[in-house]
Amino acid sequence: MAVDIVRTFPDIRWASDGPTRGVEALVEDGLVLAFPHLPFVLDESERRFLDARWADGKAKNISVRWPGGELRGTAAEASDADALRAMIVRYAEQAEALALRLFPHYAGHLRRGNSSFRPSEVSTRQSSWRKDDSRLHIDAFPSNPMQGTRLLRVFSNVNPAAEPRQWRVGERFEEHARRYLPKIGRPLPGSSALMHLTGITKRRRTEYDHLMLQLHDRAKADLDFQRDSPQARVDFAPGTTWVVYSDQVLHAAMGGRHMMEQTFYLEVERQQQPSTSPLRTLERLLNRPLR
Ligand SMILES: [Fe+2]
Repeated sequence: MAVDIVRTFPDIRWASDGPTRGVEALVEDGLVLAFPHLPFVLDESERRFLDARWADGKAKNISVRWPGGELRGTAAEASDADALRAMIVRYAEQAEALALRLFPHYAGHLRRGNSSFRPSEVSTRQSSWRKDDSRLHIDAFPSNPMQGTRLLRVFSNVNPAAEPRQWRVGERFEEHARRYLPKIGRPLPGSSALMHLTGITKRRRTEYDHLMLQLHDRAKADLDFQRDSPQARVDFAPGTTWVVYSDQVLHAAMGGRHMMEQTFYLEVERQQQPSTSPLRTLERLLNRPLR
């Protein structure tokens, strides 16, 4: 079974005068929007940052956190840190301009999440299967319950040596949910309040979050699914930007290094078609509210 969910667009500019706009329906339908001629350009003095030595050795990414704009995860200091931060902030601004052009319906409602730069190679030797992003998964995080809020991500391959970012993409969200939902039980009574109270989660883990984490974990733990489920290999060459709802699109990072990534949050109600969201899809399949 073939998976064909990547759509390609000719844009060569990030700003508001680019040709593609009003494509909310495509991204909300679970497609990957790819822009092979839309590079994030580093200037001459920024090329030195394409080296793993700028990472602090602990974090996976060098990131700028919003709304404060602090730089994290780097060994860079003083003027180097300022220049690195400026590069990542420029990416955040360009990604935001692009997102608002592609999705004008989201204007005033798209919230900026972390901006990050990943200088190192994708690692397939993780300490645990749960953290192994080379296995097909939807994004869901144990300590950061989304309560239904959407995760929209803009990625750019900035590799200087023609090395593609290699992904696999998988089946549609509804098929994926149907595959595992019958096996997933309800959360333990009181567990959500306890995890919030003790600081394990940043906010209450709703039943929606419980289901999304279970889908993430069951897919990664299921080696037959990883090997045999409908999927496709996608290579994003250097100079390519791609946009995806990563809480909806099954994806796996198989290789590549030097990537920029910008996360945005959007409330389900602010989508053009809220019915396509994971929250509404799961509620429809289970026939009850989940938050
Ligand atoms: Fe992911």
